Amino acid sequence: MGPVLVTGGAGYIGSHVTRLLAERGEQVVVVDNLSTGFKEAVIGAELVEGNVGDAGLIRSLIEDHGIRSVLHFAAHIVVPESVADPLKYYGNNTANTRQLLDVCQTTGIEHFIFSSTAAVYGSPSGGIASEHSPLAPINPYGWSKLMSEQMLKDLAAASPLRHVTLRYFNVAGAQPNGLLGQSTPQATHLIKVAAEHVVGKRDGLAIFGTDYETPDGTCIRDYIHVEDLALAHLAGLDYLREGKPSATLNCGYGRGFSVKEVLDVVAKLADKPLTIEMTGRRAGDPAVLVSKADAIRDTLDWQPRFQDIETIVSSALAWEAKLAQQPMR
Ligand code: UD1
Repeated sequence: MGPVLVTGGAGYIGSHVTRLLAERGEQVVVVDNLSTGFKEAVIGAELVEGNVGDAGLIRSLIEDHGIRSVLHFAAHIVVPESVADPLKYYGNNTANTRQLLDVCQTTGIEHFIFSSTAAVYGSPSGGIASEHSPLAPINPYGWSKLMSEQMLKDLAAASPLRHVTLRYFNVAGAQPNGLLGQSTPQATHLIKVAAEHVVGKRDGLAIFGTDYETPDGTCIRDYIHVEDLALAHLAGLDYLREGKPSATLNCGYGRGFSVKEVLDVVAKLADKPLTIEMTGRRAGDPAVLVSKADAIRDTLDWQPRFQDIETIVSSALAWEAKLAQQPMR
């Protein structure tokens, strides 16, 4: 099996995957520069502080630990920031991934799991994206990930490395037992922002656009529970270890909720009305973005377990309440 390297393992999604790997007895080495991640979020693994673009560091970690599999999460993820500062995204997400892949090639890494995004589809026609839909990002974040996908695909064609690329839809929620959750400062994601409002960290929140061509005028997204998403990474690793071919798969549930529907669930579970301002559209937001989600079920040994929207929101609320008492370090 061999130990695994997890980049960005102190971040939101990487920390959930790290914990699950450690829980099933795997040896995990995390490399994270702690720019948005937290030491405390690394459970059951060795944490090395450093950058993915530091080829010398990554090479010595791989060689010293005899690592054969890499799970690559380290990235910037805020879409509006990517529009304002694109080179930050091409530097950290694309150029550093190239460095990492270079080291993976020369050290003979066999398995690579890559965190990609539904943002590679831009605004798919009809709002539903299958893995075969046109790739047409509408923001630098999406482009920075698509370029990395392409490098990985080309490298896999030219070398023994095999990959599973997972295109995440809207990741939300927290570890079901309250051990981990999203702690990112200055969060922009809808459910996280709403949860911060519920615990009093924000006075209110805005709905960005109520004039979309959707039943209630607000954007529709496919929200996936972070624990299900994390389990998909473990299934992807098992798949590669069985010798199966590279695959690129959507990670969603194949169903959508509007911004208003999500906020109604938040208000119901919080048992109080939210202070909501209706504002104009946010740049770069497609009206509808929902996955076609059959391929992941057909390819990996994975089934959704936490898809109920109330389960997702209640775990996010529980985590936010815990964080308000006990901030992450
Ligand atoms: C985006 C990416 C997604 C990526 C994620 C990473 C696109 C199309 N999607 O998700 O692939 O993985 O970022 O960061 O680029 N909203 C409000 N008020 C708020 C916050 C959000 O109304 O305070 C609305 C947004 O306008 C959007 C929906 O809620 O319609 C979800 O937004 P958000 O949670 O920020 O995620 P995406 O932008 O969909």
